[in-house]
Amino acid sequence: MCGIVAYLGKKTAQPILIEGLKRLEYRGYDSAGVALMSDGTIKVKKTSGRISALESILDLPNNNETTGLGHTRWATHGQPNQVNAHPHADYTGKIAVVHNGIIENYATLKTWLQNEGVTFASETDTEVAANLIGYFYEKCGAGESASPSGKGGDENKKPAGQNRFEWAVQRALREVHGTYGFGILCADCPGMLIGAKKGSPLILGVGDGEYILASDAAAIVEHTTRAVYLADNEMVTVSAGGFYTKTINNVAVTKQLQDIEFSLEQIELDGFTHHMLKEIFEQPKALSTCMGGRVDVNNNKIRLGGIEEYFRELTRARRLIITACGTAFHAGVVGEFLFEQLARIPTETEYASEFRYRNPIIEDGTVVLAISQSGETADTLAAVEQAKERGATVLGIVNVVGSTIARTTDAGVYLHVGPEIGVASTKAFTGQVTVLTMLAIELSRRRHISTDEASRYIRELSEIPDKISRILEQSEHIKKIAESNLDKNNWLFLGRGVNYPVALEGALKLKEISYIHAEGLPAAEMKHGPIALIVDGMPAVFIATAGPQYEKIIGNIMEVRARGGKTIIVATEGNDHIRQYADCLITIPDAPELLQPMLTVIPLQLLAYHAAVLRGHDVDKPRNLAKSVTVE
Ligand code: G6P
Repeated sequence: MCGIVAYLGKKTAQPILIEGLKRLEYRGYDSAGVALMSDGTIKVKKTSGRISALESILDLPNNNETTGLGHTRWATHGQPNQVNAHPHADYTGKIAVVHNGIIENYATLKTWLQNEGVTFASETDTEVAANLIGYFYEKCGAGESASPSGKGGDENKKPAGQNRFEWAVQRALREVHGTYGFGILCADCPGMLIGAKKGSPLILGVGDGEYILASDAAAIVEHTTRAVYLADNEMVTVSAGGFYTKTINNVAVTKQLQDIEFSLEQIELDGFTHHMLKEIFEQPKALSTCMGGRVDVNNNKIRLGGIEEYFRELTRARRLIITACGTAFHAGVVGEFLFEQLARIPTETEYASEFRYRNPIIEDGTVVLAISQSGETADTLAAVEQAKERGATVLGIVNVVGSTIARTTDAGVYLHVGPEIGVASTKAFTGQVTVLTMLAIELSRRRHISTDEASRYIRELSEIPDKISRILEQSEHIKKIAESNLDKNNWLFLGRGVNYPVALEGALKLKEISYIHAEGLPAAEMKHGPIALIVDGMPAVFIATAGPQYEKIIGNIMEVRARGGKTIIVATEGNDHIRQYADCLITIPDAPELLQPMLTVIPLQLLAYHAAVLRGHDVDKPRNLAKSVTVE
């Protein structure tokens, strides 16, 4: 949802900005630009399209400016064209900004500025911020007391000794409602860079005489592993001599330098053609790491250190609410089955975007679990805040260490599956399900199940990574299945019980990257409407693994076959009975039904991946999507 990067240091800024933008491209990729500080002026170059398009219009060789801003955009306000691309300069040409987030009161601010005679070039909310900063910068000390909020007097007077640029940024941001991560330059202050954060992530990498401000550590790790994570309403002023942090109300804040936890190797392709494929194949290792030090087969225990002190409350919980978006929501629905069936705790899974607006009932004994790969999804964050306001204990299941949701929740469990770059989520899903499974097993062990049963689940869970490796060996076979159905534009994905959310996830994967219309359903629901869609040759993917509903799903398979549909079946290894019903068969190793989602999803990820590649799509950067959705 837009990536920003800014550099101030001794090196040539442009290649560093471009490299950083490439690492952030997963956050949005419909237009891109850079602003470079050059002899007291700010030069802006921007274009619609990807970073490669930006590179083609840059004059790289003769460029030795050492301070600059970069941006890769996921459009919210205004089309993804050259004019709306960032950086945005203000009407005076002195200020340039890059922005990630949404300025909610931009229309009011824009009208006010226009009435003040300020002109606009683009349709974006960001240009409003640039112009507002420019306005306060221009009027500073000129005896003006006007402001959009009507506040005047001391509010509009710069404290003696404060830098004018810094004051103008603070003054403007106090008028802004909404979310932002900003990188800001002022032509009159060539050795200064300002960053500000509210609701969108912003990290300052601190190197040896150089600083990189970015939305994500991925753009920083190549240069330094030490960083300052800004909190909401904080800003950082950077110059060659160092940096300091304040609130936008000009109160000094002391921040600790922290170590960035991931390395460059984790975000390289490592011989794979796409990040998504690499991440699919990484799953055995990623899940082993996720379980490392947590699943103790010998002592028949699961330890989740991050939430240890909440186990008492969880064990006694009368209700769990799981809230999340997208793929994380599907993991949440798997969790609902696990908590109800294993731990016997009533559980509901809610789309975060719905939960936050429907006046949720949170009683004593309700614990909320928020799931998010990025830890930055705006709807999930708002749901967390809503639940906390109502007094719930909120626990996070998050991948990105130090992310906003990780810091906003009372406590949590990190996935530890490593950075996920591919926009279509894969290893984060299995990581989320692994964490939910660990939690459900431990809660059921503490609540009611026998030691033997708990120990069986713990042992079976520890065997999941090896079983995933065996499924991955079928990648070429799955590719052939994708190939033989490539001309089909409507697919169904069907599963029952805990494999129903896997069917939802399989359909989402196919839609996201191959742009094929797909619907995921609980298999028995098909006869209540979607069966009308089935025509000769239409692919229907069934998850028909061993479990209590196996016989029932065979009935659903027969219904599809009777209408000419083509059945692609995911079944348990060694099940020869099912061959007669399958046009295409994919097998998974046997596992207890409740642990199957970590296995059954793997062939569906591969199916979507191969279909997208065969259709010639850019798998890691599907159209219209962004990895981290920081707008509502
Ligand atoms: C976006 C991504 C999805 C992801 C969802 C939730 O829509 O494209 O892949 O599942 O956001 O993201 P989160 O980071 O909160 O898990």
